[in-house]
Amino acid sequence: MTATAVRGIGVPVKRKEDPRFIRGKGTYVDDVKLPGMLYMDIVRSPYAHARIKRIDVSKARAMPGVIDVITGEELAKANLAWMPTLMGDRQMVLPTERVVYYAQEVAAVIATDRYIAADAVLAVEVEYEPLPPVLDPFEALKPDAPPVRPDRDQKTNHIWHWEAGDKEKTDRIFQEAEVVVAQDLYIPRIHVASIETCGCVANYDPATDKLTIWMTSQAPHAHRTVFSLVTGIPEHKIRVISPDIGGGFGGKVPVYPGYVIATYATLKHKKPIKWIEDRSENLQADSFARDYHIHAELAANRDGKIRALRVKVLADHGAFDAAANPSRFPAGLFSVCTGSYDMEAAHVEVDGVYTTKPPGGVAYRCSFRVTEAVHTIERMVDILADELGMDPAEIRFKNFIQPHQFPYKSPTGWEYDSGNYPAALQKALDMIGYQELRREQAERRARGELMGIGISTFTEIVGAGPSHTFDILGIKMFDSAEIRVHPTGAVIVRIGVQTQGQGHETTFAQIVAEELGIPVEYITVEHGDTDTAPYGLGTYASRSTPTAGAATAVAARKIREKARLIAAHLLEVSPDDLEWKDYAFRVKGAPDRYKTMQEIAFAAYTNFPLGLEPGLEAECYYDPPNLTFPFGAYVCVVDIDRGTGQVKIREFLAVDDCGTIINPMIVEGQIHGGLTMGMAPALFEEIVYDENGTMLTGTFMDYLLPTAVETPHWKTAKTVTPSPHHPLGAKGVGESPTIGAPPAIVNAVVDALSHLGVRHIDIPITPAKLYRILQEKGVAE
Ligand code: CDP
Repeated sequence: MTATAVRGIGVPVKRKEDPRFIRGKGTYVDDVKLPGMLYMDIVRSPYAHARIKRIDVSKARAMPGVIDVITGEELAKANLAWMPTLMGDRQMVLPTERVVYYAQEVAAVIATDRYIAADAVLAVEVEYEPLPPVLDPFEALKPDAPPVRPDRDQKTNHIWHWEAGDKEKTDRIFQEAEVVVAQDLYIPRIHVASIETCGCVANYDPATDKLTIWMTSQAPHAHRTVFSLVTGIPEHKIRVISPDIGGGFGGKVPVYPGYVIATYATLKHKKPIKWIEDRSENLQADSFARDYHIHAELAANRDGKIRALRVKVLADHGAFDAAANPSRFPAGLFSVCTGSYDMEAAHVEVDGVYTTKPPGGVAYRCSFRVTEAVHTIERMVDILADELGMDPAEIRFKNFIQPHQFPYKSPTGWEYDSGNYPAALQKALDMIGYQELRREQAERRARGELMGIGISTFTEIVGAGPSHTFDILGIKMFDSAEIRVHPTGAVIVRIGVQTQGQGHETTFAQIVAEELGIPVEYITVEHGDTDTAPYGLGTYASRSTPTAGAATAVAARKIREKARLIAAHLLEVSPDDLEWKDYAFRVKGAPDRYKTMQEIAFAAYTNFPLGLEPGLEAECYYDPPNLTFPFGAYVCVVDIDRGTGQVKIREFLAVDDCGTIINPMIVEGQIHGGLTMGMAPALFEEIVYDENGTMLTGTFMDYLLPTAVETPHWKTAKTVTPSPHHPLGAKGVGESPTIGAPPAIVNAVVDALSHLGVRHIDIPITPAKLYRILQEKGVAE
C-alpha cells in the first residue's frame, strides 16, 4: 500500500462530509420529522428583572390547535422548575416568582403547528411588577444593589473568587520594578451566532419506554448523563442524538431550558415535541461569551525585560453561572495569560458577578477564557513597548520563552509542552516584509496617513483535559474511540467527540488510514449517537484532536499489535521477525514477504492463530497526560480612513503551529474561519443593553457579523513543533485564530495612532468609536 493510496496524515483529503452538505442533504435537528409531532414555542420576558404577579394561560389554551401551556408552577410539581448548570449553579427552567433577564423563558406553548404555537405565545397573559435591573457588575457588588439571586444562601451578587499564581512574589516585584504599565480593558459580551440556532426533538415512546432526544448538542453523552440525573430516568432509557450540527462554537455546550421543557412535554403527552429557536431568541437568551472587565499591570526592567504580570477581573456571568468550564476552573483557563513570555511571577484574580442578563460564559471558539487571556497579555506587551519606545517585535523577541526551556512551567502553574516562538515570529516578519512596512509607515505618517502594523504572538492551551484536574460536573474529561475492522478491511470508527463542521469524518478517518494502512475511503467515522458512540465529553475548546484524536491513534495501534500476531501466523514467522513498514507487516530482511491490513483483517475472521480471540477491533478511553499548547505569530496591517473612522485590514498573515497536521486543507479552513471570527469581535460584534436591560442587538440588523464583503484575504503559513506527549504529535487548532486575531488587529489600529498618544482602544473598534478618537486627536477629516 502506498501513501498515495492510503491518504493518511498530512494529506489534504477533500472533506468526506461535504458532498451531503453542499447538496443540502445534511440532517439537522430541524430536519427530523416524526409522525404526530407537536411544536413548542416559548413565552419570553419583556423585562430584565420583574416579579411575576400572574400568568393567565386560559386564552392561549382555548385556541384551536393548542394542546398545552406549561408554566413554572407545573414544572415545580415535577421538581423541574430549576436545573443544575454545568458550573454547579442552579438555573430556572421556567420561573415561578421572578424573571431575571430580558427574553427569559416564562412559559411554553405546545401546539399542533409551529405557527399556532407562535400565535398562542402572544395570547399568554403575564402580569409583571418591574424590579430595578442590575446591569453593571461593579454596581452589582455594592451593598445596596438589588440581589439578583435571593434564592441563594449568600445574598450578595458575588458568585465566586478565584486566583492563580504567587501574589506575594508578584507584589514584591511590582514594588521594586523599574517600569510598571497598567491598563483597564473591557472585552464585551458577544454571541456565537451559529447559523443553526438551538433546538431539539424530544420523543418518549411508551411502547419501548425509551426517550430519544435529537439535540443541537456539542456534548451528547454529558447531556444524557445530566438528563438522567435531573429526571431520574435510567441512562440506558435515554438516547441523545446530535445529528449534523450547523456550528456550535461553544454555544451548544450548555443545557438550555427549552431542551428540558420539550422533554417534560414529551413525557407528559407521549408525543414527539419539536422546539427550534428563532434567530432573535438565540441571540437574546442563549449563552453569551466574554464580558470580562480586566485591570492588568506589567512590571518590567527599563531594557524591556518583563518581570511580572498582575491581573484583576470582574466576570459578568448574568443571572445564573451557566458557564461551560471545567469544574475546577470557574474562570476557565484564563490563567494562561502570561502567554508566550518568560517572567518571574504572575498573579491573577477573577471574581464572578451576577447581573440581570442572560447566563453563560461560553467558550466562544476559545478554550475557556483563553481569548480574554491572550487579548490581555498581547495588548499589555504592546503598551509596555510603547512606554519604553521599543518596537513591538523586539520586545517580544526579548521576552519569549526559548525553545530549550520546554517543557516550560508557567508562573501560574501550567506546563507548556513544546514551542518555538522566535521561529514563528521571525517567519511572520520575513514573509510580510516587516522592516519595509515600518519604512512605509514612517513615510505615510509624514504625509498624515494613518497606517498601523500589529503583532500578536499567542500561546493557546487546548485538549482539556487530564483527569487529575479536569472534569465537568465530576465527569473526567477523557475522550474515546472505538474501531472495528470488518473482514474485507473496511472500517468503522466511532468517536466520543461531536463535530459541528470541523471535518472529523475526514480527519479521524485519516488517522486510522495512517495507522492501519487502509485507504481513507474505506473508513467511516460515526459520532453523536449515545446509543452507539463510546462515552466522551464532546467537542469544544479545540479538544477533539488532542483527546479523541489521540484515542483513535491508540485504538488503531492496539489493532495493529493484534494484526502483527495474525500476520506472523500467516507468514509463518515469529511476531518479532515482523516490522510495520510502508503500511504492511513485512518480514525483517525480506520486505517482499508481507501482509497488508486487508489480508490480515480477512484472516482475523477466517484464519486466525489458535488461541487468539477472533475479530479485529479495539477501543481506547484516552486520559491525556497534559494539555497541548499550539501557538502562532500574526501580523496585521491596517489603514484607517480619516473621513469615516473605518479600519481597513490591508494585509493579515497568520503563522500557526498546531504540531503534526492531520489534514492541511482542513486546518487551513479552520484558520480562515477562525480569523474571520476573530475579526468579528475586534471590529463589529457586541451585545448591547439599554438602561432597562432590554437587549438592543437581537437581530442581525444590529448584531453585526462580518460577511465575505468585510473579510480580507487571509494569508497563512505554518511551523510544525510536535507535541511530545500526543501519540501523533498533534495539537488542537480550531480556536487559535479566533484567539490570536483580535489583539493583532487592535495592536495594528493602536499602532496607527500611537504617535497621537493613543495607547489602548477597547473592542469592537467600530467606525463611530474610532471617528470620535480621530476627532479628539484633531486628525478626523
Ligand atoms: O475540537 P475541534 O474539532 O473543534 O478542534 P481541533 O481538534 O483543533 O480540530 C479541528 C479540525 O482540524 C479537526 O478536523 C481536526 O482533526 C483538524 N486538525 C488537523 O487536521 N490537524 C491538527 N493538528 C489539528 C486539527
